[in-house]
Amino acid sequence: MRFCARFRIIFVFLFVVAVAPAPNVAFAQRVARGLVVSDSELASQAGMEILNRGGNAVDAAVATAFALSVVDQASSGLGGGGFMVIYDAKARRAHALDFRETAPAGAHRELFMKDGKPVPSASVTGALAVAVPAEVAGLMQAFKQFGTLPLAVLMAPAIRLASDGFPLDATLRYAIERQRAAMKKFPDLARVFMPKDTLPAEGDIIRQAELAQTLKAIAAQGSDVFYRGWIAEAIVETVKKEGGVLSLEDFKNYKPLWREPLVGSYRNRTVITMPPPSSGGVALLEMLNVLAPYPLSALGHNSATYLHLVAEAMKHAFADRAQYLGDPDFVKAPIATLVSKEYAAWIRGRISAAKTYPPKYYGLVNFKAEQGGTTHFSVIDRFGNAVACTQTVNTRFGSKILVPRTGIVLNNEMDDFAIHPGGNVYGLVGNEANSLQPKKRPLSSMAPTIILRGERPEIVVGAAGGPRIISATLQVILNIIDFHLLVKEAVIAPRIHHQWMPDNLIVEADIAPETRRALERRGHHVRERGVVGVAQAIVADKGRVSGEADPRKPARAAAE
Ligand code: GLY
Repeated sequence: MRFCARFRIIFVFLFVVAVAPAPNVAFAQRVARGLVVSDSELASQAGMEILNRGGNAVDAAVATAFALSVVDQASSGLGGGGFMVIYDAKARRAHALDFRETAPAGAHRELFMKDGKPVPSASVTGALAVAVPAEVAGLMQAFKQFGTLPLAVLMAPAIRLASDGFPLDATLRYAIERQRAAMKKFPDLARVFMPKDTLPAEGDIIRQAELAQTLKAIAAQGSDVFYRGWIAEAIVETVKKEGGVLSLEDFKNYKPLWREPLVGSYRNRTVITMPPPSSGGVALLEMLNVLAPYPLSALGHNSATYLHLVAEAMKHAFADRAQYLGDPDFVKAPIATLVSKEYAAWIRGRISAAKTYPPKYYGLVNFKAEQGGTTHFSVIDRFGNAVACTQTVNTRFGSKILVPRTGIVLNNEMDDFAIHPGGNVYGLVGNEANSLQPKKRPLSSMAPTIILRGERPEIVVGAAGGPRIISATLQVILNIIDFHLLVKEAVIAPRIHHQWMPDNLIVEADIAPETRRALERRGHHVRERGVVGVAQAIVADKGRVSGEADPRKPARAAAE
């Protein structure tokens, strides 16, 4: 997509340090060469190291992603996949990289049934839950097209973190704590993350010698060693031994795809986001279009009236997600309609400020219904390039399988297909569009997004948290654009989430009691259930760049 050069502004970011980092915001690194905000301080430092060496935003993104694959295997890593939205300032072009995992060629729905009944745990834990890992192919593709520094330089911080070890932080410790029971059933996972058979303490050093060897092999030989070499062989051997259907052929056939980014507008800005197989971008644009004509700032930040309208937009967007969206290489979805201003106007005609409606009111009615370990990071460089990247192994530590010899934790992305009538681990329902088929990519909620003001990236944002990704990303954007909150306040402000089904309006703890009551009077089933996503945002405004890493991470509302 080419942006017209109406204003040929050569802009220079001054990168003034905005504020001294608050204690829980240390993950936002601020220096004169750009900014990386991830939910790991060590990963942000890895990206910053690259920016400081003269690398661009994609170089820094690749380094950050590889570092995350070491310091937070509960959320993402070489056994997972993701999506990357890139803005190339010089060419004034945006790119969307799909490195989503695919279903193995041998996968079919019956694998997840026993005696004619669905077995929900099969798509969540163990070998059948594993889709073809895509992270390495994706990062290599981004590097090949946009990287400027040698791969070995970009991967050096990750290799260092794996071989020398890193001090366990609160986030990963929390993930290990939540998975103690699973560690007992998956001894290889326990060998790395509970090496002394007990919950490690914050600050304990986690070393991953096998993972370091894997990373060194990739740095030296590129993605072939992963997809056609000993790494693929080790993964396939483990998965087969555990009863899975992943094959060497699946690895050989995996390809990351450049997709046309989804582009919309909101309050005189250009919103660039991820198209399917993520639902994140479609839902985000649909909700922004619905909300744009409302005088949101006049309604008051997080007022009941405002939150009600946001919740209604969410209900419509999530109903459409369930109805229409899936892998675009398998299903044709009316994307242009869903993200059109006309469709948004039609939806607004169905929204009442006074009440909400039961689920059947939303979306198209001929619906056949059939519950994260994710991480987002944002990068901006001194050239004005930007990267929004969200990557995942799905729920914490994915399938819980850690592959011996490689040190890689495998995803459980198969659960993102609409396999079970009662919905997936996030309670998300879907229909045929997101049915499980061999070689198909499961529908995602990841919403890496770059917002331009003119031709300049103003906001780089995204989140972790399953379907709550979409709600978190939306509200951070509204907080910045409509309510003029500083990036820190915008990320920290309490949020809500509604995914249409189940019919609950999730509110965070700091949503005021009187606001909850006012929402209940409109008919919402208000529930407080954990946090709404974990967002990382960067805002570049008038030569000043600041970022915020969400302090919600240790207690994030990921599925277990
Ligand atoms: N695995 C979570 C997502 O892609 O939405």
